[in-house]
Amino acid sequence: MKRFSLLAALLALWALPVRADEGMWLPALVSQRIEDMQAKGFRLSAEDIYSVNQASLKDAVVLFGSGCTGELVSSEGLLFTNHHCGYGYIQKHSSVEHDYLKDGFWARTRADELPNPGLTVRFLERMEDVTAAVLKGYKEKMTEEQRQALVKKNADRIKAQAVKEGNGLKASVEALYYGNQYFLFVFREYRDVRLVGAPPSSIGKFGGETDNWMWPRHTGDFSIFRIYAGKDNLPADYSESNVPYRPKKSLRISRAGVKEGDFTFVYGCPGSTQEYVHSEAVKYIQDISDPEKIALRTTRLNIMKKYMDQSQAVRIQYSSKYAGVANAWKKWQGEEKGLRKNHVVPVKQAYEKRFEEWAQGTRYEGIIGRLTNLYAARNPLYRAYEYYRESVLTIERLQMAGNPRFNRKDYYQPIDEEMFVAMMTAFDQNVEDVYKPPYFLEKRAQYGTMEAWRDAVFADENEARELSAALNEHFNSTIAPPVAELGKSITLLYRDYMQGQMEFEPQKAFYPDANLTLRVAYGKVAGYRPVDAVWYNPVSTLRGIIEKDNPEIFDYNIPQTLRDIYAQGGHEDQPVCFLATNHTTGGNSGSPVLNADGNLVGINFDRVWEGTMSDLVYDPEICRNISLDVRYILFIIKEIGHAAYLLDEMTFVD
Ligand code: ARG
Ligand code: GLU
Repeated sequence: MKRFSLLAALLALWALPVRADEGMWLPALVSQRIEDMQAKGFRLSAEDIYSVNQASLKDAVVLFGSGCTGELVSSEGLLFTNHHCGYGYIQKHSSVEHDYLKDGFWARTRADELPNPGLTVRFLERMEDVTAAVLKGYKEKMTEEQRQALVKKNADRIKAQAVKEGNGLKASVEALYYGNQYFLFVFREYRDVRLVGAPPSSIGKFGGETDNWMWPRHTGDFSIFRIYAGKDNLPADYSESNVPYRPKKSLRISRAGVKEGDFTFVYGCPGSTQEYVHSEAVKYIQDISDPEKIALRTTRLNIMKKYMDQSQAVRIQYSSKYAGVANAWKKWQGEEKGLRKNHVVPVKQAYEKRFEEWAQGTRYEGIIGRLTNLYAARNPLYRAYEYYRESVLTIERLQMAGNPRFNRKDYYQPIDEEMFVAMMTAFDQNVEDVYKPPYFLEKRAQYGTMEAWRDAVFADENEARELSAALNEHFNSTIAPPVAELGKSITLLYRDYMQGQMEFEPQKAFYPDANLTLRVAYGKVAGYRPVDAVWYNPVSTLRGIIEKDNPEIFDYNIPQTLRDIYAQGGHEDQPVCFLATNHTTGGNSGSPVLNADGNLVGINFDRVWEGTMSDLVYDPEICRNISLDVRYILFIIKEIGHAAYLLDEMTFVD
């Protein structure tokens, strides 16, 4: 009885049009949300957010590199993004004599700004629904292959047409809602982007892996770049004669700050979500994929940590690898927990039951069962696929055997030897023999123990090359192709299921899953209750940095200057980070966080780990994005960077 009423309550929630603050909306269609935004406190219009006729906020937002967001903060092309988004570029400019990661970097003059070959930023010129043009010539009786060929041909024509008249124009046609809708995106891409400033990692990465995905948070996660253009303000290859880009729009900065309940919106490029998937997809993630990948990564992290703790040199070699492994590892833990806590699988199953009843006699009849069957066929294979990638394919000895360009500088063999035994053992015990290469089974019998096999592989280059080739060959020829095939069939069914869901709930507002295209998310500043009896306030301050400060702990060892400034008094309440309910995901890093008047109050850089299931289902109680307060950026520029001249080109509204 109790179980039943809990489920009933959850179902009632699920059926609400859109849950409060959920959604990543297309800027060109934001007029459909503007009333709701205004009801929640927003004071601007849809045209202020997105317009093709006049400068609008979209003209101040860019896709930074291949997976982050950035925003223009001056009329001279100055741009903010995250420290972790600029990290690779800062690292490339660093050497033993000039360690900009450790000490920070501040260009004192424009001539000191550092070029970054390969780094681009993309402005969205316009986006447009091109569904009719993409499906022009489509007939009901076409096969899926014929449909795909038609879509490609039409999309290529549309893209060619769109970039015809302009320097630096790029176009893409993206399928939304699994191909129920197609949108054209036209960008202008700039390719001379220079590093202007970065705080020392002890500020920009403060808290390191320990605090990653966590609240309370005190990371000063920002870096500063400048876009350069030719004299005509158009994209140009790097040249000394290039001039700072003059944007159509740059953001004005508010120093008024935020407090619980304030309206905020995030304008950026979220990478990937799966909000409309079948319960079997969620069940697989929750019961198999997340737990198994977490366990494998726990093993790898423990091995790395053991050696990193013993040697400073090894710590430097492996810190970036460690961070890469730890990031998703921590995210998955929150995701798995959140999916269970929210009963996402049973709630989806109940929804599917109602959907099926409704679908009787329509073209959607039977779709739920067909998806169930496809997942039943895919999951064992997909599990093997993921297991390969998370275990044996991570062994560096095997990677370097197949790749002469492998970076041996950051390699420490004792770590890799221990990894070999741990990963090979896990693979052997947890993957069924049918998914293993015959070579693996033979050698396993021959060597008897993983330790003996390890000794051979590390002593003999040929032995490593053979094993590497056998694993990769088997993976590429017998595991990956059927996974891709089944994936295609599943995606195809989702095209119908998605449309069915929209017809089933015509009163509900749907937003397309994230795909790295520009989106608007809106919500409010809000704390949350991570567990019973604990309430997290939404604003962190410099006081908390001093509380965490510890010269003995690498992640919490702040610059002496910051200690000295704090000791002078008066900075205790200096805001550092804040929480809000904006629906964000990976790719939203560096996104501007704007207030009710469209002024910049922060930069998005993370989510709280308890809410990371928002990639699958958004829970307004616990899903929070984490932003850096813009006032902390200004404070660091002035007090640590002594670069107050940068503030002269910014516009402050208060
Ligand atoms: N969790 C954030 C994101 O997903 C930050 C990652 C970089 N920082 C780190 N400590 N690894 O990208
Ligand atoms: N840190 C993430 C990024 O680089 C954003 C955090 C998230 O997944 O929301 O995009």
